[in-house]
Formats: sequence, structure tokens, C-alpha cells
Amino acid sequence: MNPKETGYQTGFGNEFATEAIEGALPQGQNSPQRAPLGLYAEQLSGTAFTAPRATNRRTWTYRMRPSAVHKPFRQIGNGLLGSAPITDQTPEPNQLRWDPLSMPAVPADFIDGLMTMAACGDVGTQTGTAVHIYACNRSMNERFFYNADGEMLLVPEKGRLGVRTELGRIYVAPGEICVLPRGVKFRIELPDGEARGYVCENYGSHFKLPDLGPIGANGLANSRDFLTPVAAYEDRAGDFQLIAKFQGNLWAAEIGHSPLDVVAWHGNYAPYKYDLALFNTVNTVSYDHPDPSIFTVLTSPSEISGTANCDFVIFPPRWMVAEHTFRPPYFHRNVMSEFMGLIFGRYDAKQEGFVPGGASLHNCMSGHGPDVDTFESASNADLAPQRYENTLAFMFETRYVLRPSRFAMETPALQKDYWKCWQGVKKIKVES
Ligand SMILES: [Fe+2]
Repeated sequence: MNPKETGYQTGFGNEFATEAIEGALPQGQNSPQRAPLGLYAEQLSGTAFTAPRATNRRTWTYRMRPSAVHKPFRQIGNGLLGSAPITDQTPEPNQLRWDPLSMPAVPADFIDGLMTMAACGDVGTQTGTAVHIYACNRSMNERFFYNADGEMLLVPEKGRLGVRTELGRIYVAPGEICVLPRGVKFRIELPDGEARGYVCENYGSHFKLPDLGPIGANGLANSRDFLTPVAAYEDRAGDFQLIAKFQGNLWAAEIGHSPLDVVAWHGNYAPYKYDLALFNTVNTVSYDHPDPSIFTVLTSPSEISGTANCDFVIFPPRWMVAEHTFRPPYFHRNVMSEFMGLIFGRYDAKQEGFVPGGASLHNCMSGHGPDVDTFESASNADLAPQRYENTLAFMFETRYVLRPSRFAMETPALQKDYWKCWQGVKKIKVES
């Protein structure tokens, strides 16, 4: 794969080096007295300087102006964008499910169109996550954004996104994901005119590939399938705005130029994309339903071993071959909290009510599982090998209880009758 032809470099978290103009990258040192072309050298640190080498993330940028060049930030309204801790809404143990949220009735760019569904942890302590849904119909041309509160995992459900970042351009379509590291500036264009999808705003440690243990050196999401853009810069002047998300609030600063003016960069802290169709799905070839962790694409570890700040898990098209086994997801209660969305098709635990663009939340220890119709049909199904086609659901799973936002609890998209999908489950009579 030639980065000059594709616009992407391959590998997860590699030490990349890229220049939009030949000779813009210094050779042999990071910040020479005069960088090539007279550019400014600026480091972007995604981890503490002293983080262990294996987890250290930083990138050196060579840019037309340092990032400090802008007018003072002033606080602006947050719209429907919220952050943890959510304190104006009492969390409840009920199972929750939502219809797809409406597309905006007025012009709204990606930032205007962010609607927070739930959040956990605390932006102030860099723990937990927030889950947002975006629905937008306007490209960001004069507005630029960075998020100091967390990295953003974008999961498009409708419409492509042209993500122009200070480290290069990423085009992402439904079925693909994109991760924008904390602090990286970007603007989002809408080549299809409108777009909708999900965002996991990860306040905690960076997403990484899960360890594979006995699976071996290959499988699940393979490193070589992750794509990071080559350097691409904008040389534009105008009356622009730089928006920052900082400690749960939005701030805007006037800026007279595009801050996407990085001509060259090297480092391992950079945005990336991944095509979920490339996920190497591993599952049983004998009996029983493995836990859904077998479908983990990315994980953000917490300080407790094996207990994620957030896992990103998918349920892709696959073969089901388990013998004498109930194949759909089992009835379940979980110390971890599970937020689910659907990108396309149908999810195998539900016959109806969970549709693309919709969502569900099963919080800590709330009982959930297949609905009555799914349970009945799967309990009596012919267990010949079966291909699950046209389906792509996902889950954000976190060790912290997800507190729904007031918007999520008051929107008409909240399904008031979700609980009924289990009420027809028959009592099993046992003889003592
Ligand atoms: Fe579950």
C-alpha cells in the first residue's frame, strides 16, 4: 500500500513519518534551531512524558503557526452536548431503548448536532466515557474543533464524513470507524449532505487493540488494517472560529487562519480509521455462546486488570455453527454497563424495536436478553450452520454506570414500552 497513492499509512499506533512537502521533516532531531522551510516545531503529547515507552504517545508537528496563535476563548452554549458527571438526572435501573433520533430541522454542523445520551466517570479525573449521537446537515468550513476532554470514536450510521484533521484527511463511511485523539484539531465535511452516527467520547486511557491471549498472534482487528492519514495542510485565511471542549463546556475563539496548517509530522499520536468488514471474527466451532468480549475491536483499559474503562465491541456478519446451543445472546446481568447501537440490518437478540440509528442501554446489573419471539424461535431452530448476513450492531461497554442525560430521558425517541418485550416469557413449571 503506497501512502502517496492511498493517502493513508498502515498499522496501529506505529511511529509514522509524513510530509506534504518534500524536505519539511527535520532529519536527525525533533526541534532544530530552524526547522526546514522555517516551519514551527510543536509537540502534541497524548500521554505523560514519563509514560512507559510501550504506551507513550506523542507527535511532533511542523506547522505554519504554533497552536497558541488565536484570540481568547469565550464560553458558548453546549446545546445538547453533556459530560460526566451528569448530575441533573437520577439514573434508574430500567432497561432503556431509543428510536433513531431525528435529523436536524435547521442547519447544524457536526458540533451543533451532538446529542449526549449518557455519560459515566468524570471529565475532571479523566475516567469514564460519554455516548453521543450526532445528526448534522452542514459541513464545518469556518469552524474547527478540538476536544480536551477525551478521544472521540466515531461510528457513522448514515452518510459519509470527510474528517479534515491537522494531521491529515480521513474519509469514513458507515461500516467504518474513525478515532480522533484528544486535542487533535479537525473539521468535518458532509459529502452526502447529511450524516448521523454514534460517538464514544473516551475520557480514559487511549483505545488500543486487545491482547489476544490463547487466540494467538493474529485475529480480531489486525494492526495492519488500521489507516492513519498522510500529512495534508490547509493554507487558508478568514474569520474562523476554533471551538474547544474543555471540562464539559464548549468555548470559542476567533482565529484568522485554518489551524490545520501542519505541513509535516512524525509520531505515534494520530487519528486513524478502520473498516469493520475486515474484523476477523472468532467464535465457537463446538458448543455454547462465547461471551461477547470475543468481538472486541478496541479497548480502553482502566487501572483494574481486565476491567475496561470502555470496550468497543461489534456484532458483524458471521457464521453460526454452535451445536445443541441457544445461539442468540443469552439472558444476562452484568457488572459492566452496556450501550448498544445498530449500524445496519437486524440484531440477533431482537425481532423488532431495535433499528439502525436507534440505541439501547442496559446498565449495571439490569436484566436483559432476547425478546420473547427471539427466545421461542431460537429455542426451536434447526441448528444447521447458518450465515448471519446484513447485520452490524455494536456495543460500548464500560465498568462505570452510564448515567442517561436529561435529553435522553425526555426525548420522544425513548421507547416507553421496551420493558414489555420480556413480559410474554412463559413461567417454567417444575415438579418438586
Ligand atoms: Fe449483556
